[in-house]
Formats: sequence, structure tokens, C-alpha cells
Amino acid sequence: MIKRLWSRKEEKSSISEHTLKSDNIPVHIAIIMDGNGRWAKKKGLPRIAGHRSGMKTVKRITMAASDLGVKYLTMYAFSTENWKRPKEEVDFLMKLPQQFLEMEIDELMENNVQVRMMGDIKNLPAHTRAAVEVAMRKTANNTGLVLNFALNYGGRLELIEAVKRVASLVEKKEIKIDDINEEFFSSYMQSQQIPDPDLLIRTSGEVRLSNFMLWQLAYSEFYFTDVYWPEFSEEHFTAAIQEYQRRARRFGGV
Ligand code: FPP
Repeated sequence: MIKRLWSRKEEKSSISEHTLKSDNIPVHIAIIMDGNGRWAKKKGLPRIAGHRSGMKTVKRITMAASDLGVKYLTMYAFSTENWKRPKEEVDFLMKLPQQFLEMEIDELMENNVQVRMMGDIKNLPAHTRAAVEVAMRKTANNTGLVLNFALNYGGRLELIEAVKRVASLVEKKEIKIDDINEEFFSSYMQSQQIPDPDLLIRTSGEVRLSNFMLWQLAYSEFYFTDVYWPEFSEEHFTAAIQEYQRRARRFGGV
């Protein structure tokens, strides 16, 4: 049983009240961080204020996940569809990874967090891509939590890219069609070195996948909460894991 989880001395744990089974912490948690805009609207603020506040939640939940012993945390920060938003908002969102990583890199290092990203990276603005790549290089040897940002990510695009790569192997006769099985195909997905998520969390009351990790979420447990992302706390996070621990995962068995 885990009782006290917040390791930073200066910060009082707000999740210490909860009791989690330490032998059943999800290895990989994926999060659709939703509700920044509605949170801002509720407060009479511009949408970008919601994203700024959402960035603080990214920090809080990263540290909570690290303390709890979660091994992988994937955050859906920008989808392939998010380009449809007003340019001002897109530009702001594209600056957030840089801001976040510059501000938090020391603490990420102290906590042994390794940064990674997945998505259509080549079509990100150069400054966004460079910022994440610098953090990835700096944290490459860290062995704690893997913080995986999904940036310009789309599940269908990821599948199409994987199909194209596998099809070209068949075309070049490097593999036979029958060599393609789930394990082989998985290795062509962008999450190749990361196990499938055990738990998917979506905030803000929306109950859909929005093109997120369509292949990898096949057997994940889903947890939806009405809480807007900027208000999603360590306690909410722990409650999601508690709910996960109450579920019986059968993977199609009995
Ligand atoms: C969805 O809320 C949120 C996003 C599209 C952006 C998520 C980004 C962050 C939380 C910050 C990312 C931080 C880093 C460090 C990369 P929404 O704007 O769609 O909310 P709404 O549905 O209420 O309008």
C-alpha cells in the first residue's frame, strides 16, 4: 500500500490521504488533456490563459506520476486536427513545450524523468521541435518516468505511416505478408518502445478518443472525468488510479 507519495520536501502531499495498491500501479497512463478553453471561459479569461494553466497541470501530474512509480506518461498536447484553431492559439500552443521544458528541465532531471515525443514531428515549427529535442537529449539517460508528449499526433496518420513502411518492406520482398503480425506491426508504430497504455484518462466531460492512440488503446481501461484539465489535481489523478485498481482486466478472457 502506498500512503505517502510526494517526494519533494518543500511541497506538502495532497495525495497522501489516498491509499493505492503499490503492486497495481498502471505502467503506462495516457491522458487527453481537455477543457482548457472552457475553464478559461468560465473564468472570463482568454483561451490561451486556459492553456497556460493547463501547462501547470502537466507539471503537477508529471510529478505525481513520477512519485507514484508510473513508468510512462503520454500527454496529448496537440493533435493533427488542432491546426484548425485560430492562428494565435496555435502559435501559443506551439510555444508551450519550449516554455515548459525551459522552466522545468532542472526538476525533470532531479526526478530522473526522461522526455520523449511522438507525432508528425517533421511538420512542427522548428522552435517547438528543437526545444523538445534538446530536452530529449538532456534527459536521454534518465531511468525514471518517461514523459512522452504527443505533438502534432493523429492515430490514423500514425497507422497510415506504419502501413506504408510495412508495405514497402513487402514490395521490396524484405518480408512476406505472413510475417506481419501484431507484434511486428506494433514495432512500426511511433510508440514502439513503450508498452500500450493501461489507463486512458480524459478530462472535461467529453467521452471520445479524438484520434488518440487508436492502435495502442485496444485493451486499455478508460476513465472519464468532468473536471477541466487546469483543475485536474493530484487527488483527481489518484482517484483515477484507484478506479483502475478496482477494475478486473480480462483482455478478452474470463
Ligand atoms: C484541449 O483543451 C487542450 C489542448 C488542445 C491543448 C493541451 C495543451 C496543454 C494542456 C498544455 C500543454 C503543455 C505542454 C507542456 C506541452 P481545449 O482547448 O480543446 O478545451 P475546450 O474543449 O474546453 O475548448
